[in-house]
Amino acid sequence: MSSQPTLPSLGDSEFRSLQKLMAEASGIILAPNKRPLVAGRLMKRLRHYRLDSYSDYLRLLEQQTHLKERRLVVDLLTTNETYFFREPAHFDYLGQWLGRQRGPLKLWSAACSSGEEPYSLAMVVQEHLRGGDWSILASDLSQSMLEKARDGIYDMAQAKNFPQGWLHRHCLSGIGEMSGRFRVQAALRERVSLREINIVQPLPDGLGRFDVIFLRNVLIYFNNDEKQRIVQRLVSQLRPGGLLFIGHAESIHGFDVPVRLLNPSVYERL
Ligand SMILES: C[S@@+](CC[C@H](N)C(=O)[O-])C[C@H]1O[C@@H](n2cnc3c(N)ncnc32)[C@H](O)[C@@H]1O
Repeated sequence: MSSQPTLPSLGDSEFRSLQKLMAEASGIILAPNKRPLVAGRLMKRLRHYRLDSYSDYLRLLEQQTHLKERRLVVDLLTTNETYFFREPAHFDYLGQWLGRQRGPLKLWSAACSSGEEPYSLAMVVQEHLRGGDWSILASDLSQSMLEKARDGIYDMAQAKNFPQGWLHRHCLSGIGEMSGRFRVQAALRERVSLREINIVQPLPDGLGRFDVIFLRNVLIYFNNDEKQRIVQRLVSQLRPGGLLFIGHAESIHGFDVPVRLLNPSVYERL
């Protein structure tokens, strides 16, 4: 009879150390109910290093030589779920607004994950802006997500939310080895600059003012004080009359920020 190997368990103090690591690196608070998820996601790293316990793994993380591994932990414990034209009402609203604007226009997708959000924005701007130059800054904390965004290659199933004809107009469908996938056209990718920015820290100098900021489905990971600081930091980069979009499940109600509500989860900088 073969006995099942026992899986290492993630104890209280180990979980607290990981909560601290995440809070310091990303500002994200891992709630106690996330413990099984954390254990599951880090298990493959224990296997990778052939370690028997999470405390051995934490010791490894403390070594200076493993700074890259700490980044990987943040990547593994962050939720990167995203898709093209997520929360479509935002893109409809933006399309109508763009129809009344001329460039130059600067947009920012401030937690862009693997790129679906900034490339959805790029398509909407291309379709609706009345003329003039435009660019998009797409930033995230996760390097691996930014790399994926830089490739701009996605499974064809991801195109299911595209408005009619847009796949053909804005993307190249793969053939041969690339069959079943598509790539966002170079003309759009060139408008999108990808950059690592941690929104819980002071923003890099020289970002300039934006006309539109998408800050969606990321505020949920922070406590209220941190959320308010992030929103204040980003709104200060928005020009008066510029638009801030947050996720439909998120709220900035009661925050001390100079904005007014225009539409559900769409705000205008005063
Ligand atoms: C659920 S995704 C949202 C993606 C996209 N905005 C959307 O709505 O589909 C959350 C993203 O926030 C990023 N993130 C988490 N903490 C961050 C931080 N402190 N600074 C920048 N990005 C962060 C994660 O890496 C992840 O890609």
